[in-house]
Amino acid sequence: MNVKRVVIFGIQDFAELAWYYLGKDSPYEVVGFCVNEKYLPDPPFFHELPVVPFERVSQIFPPDVHGFFAPMSPKRMNRFREEIYHQLKALGYELISYVSSKATIFNNPIGENCFILEDNTIQPFTTIGNNVVLWSGNHIGHHGRIMDHVSFTSHVVMSGHCVIEPYCFLGVNATIRDGITLAEGTFLAMHSAVTKSTSPWGVYVGSPAKIREGVSSLDMLK
Ligand SMILES: CC(C)(COP(=O)(O)OP(=O)(O)OC[C@H]1O[C@@H](n2cnc3c(N)ncnc32)[C@H](O)[C@@H]1OP(=O)(O)O)[C@@H](O)C(=O)NCCC(=O)NCCS
Repeated sequence: MNVKRVVIFGIQDFAELAWYYLGKDSPYEVVGFCVNEKYLPDPPFFHELPVVPFERVSQIFPPDVHGFFAPMSPKRMNRFREEIYHQLKALGYELISYVSSKATIFNNPIGENCFILEDNTIQPFTTIGNNVVLWSGNHIGHHGRIMDHVSFTSHVVMSGHCVIEPYCFLGVNATIRDGITLAEGTFLAMHSAVTKSTSPWGVYVGSPAKIREGVSSLDMLK
């Protein structure tokens, strides 16, 4: 299946930006938005397109002829976006990815439901998993691996040969030395400089980045 008509999950900032970017810079046609029934706006329209309840979306926009895009915030260390991703897959939808025409890429493998904005440079031999957000202007070094359900904010420098495990969040201007692994669920504060591989679900702040003792990243981005 190769869908062109796409429904966007949500009607907040990320969804509105997705609508804008897909409309201006993609082969996809956005045909509607979708939220949980209790969040339906009145009237149920956004940018003059229908907003439909998630509980009935597969009847209104059948998955055999519609794709979905759920480019959501990193809330709960990306796990909220992960839940929606799995729910949409269970309904049978193909999830599309958006890669800005203003990003620089080199045939990198890129998974589903990724939102990759302008001025990202993804160097050769680096792979991007599923459900990954790369906000604008990141340097993603060569021979690296970004795994599923990860969010980069902006102007992060990921040097060569790094591995970013699932659920990581990288704050603005964070810097990662070459060959580093960010363990699952690492939270990097803005402007932190990581010189050693991290521990799972740790919160790292400063230059050189130090773990905040007694704090779990699961307490962040609630
Ligand atoms: C780490 C972070 C979550 C703040 O944590 P916090 O505990 O709420 O921070 P506070 O504002 O209460 O500051 C606590 C102390 O840490 C310092 N601090 C906060 N963030 C810091 C950072 N990134 N680097 C160095 N010090 C920092 C503050 O100056 C303050 O110091 P003080 O006690 O001497 O005054 C935040 O700095 C951060 O990095 N958020 C991500 C921002 C981001 O990238 N957003 C993306 C937007 S697209």
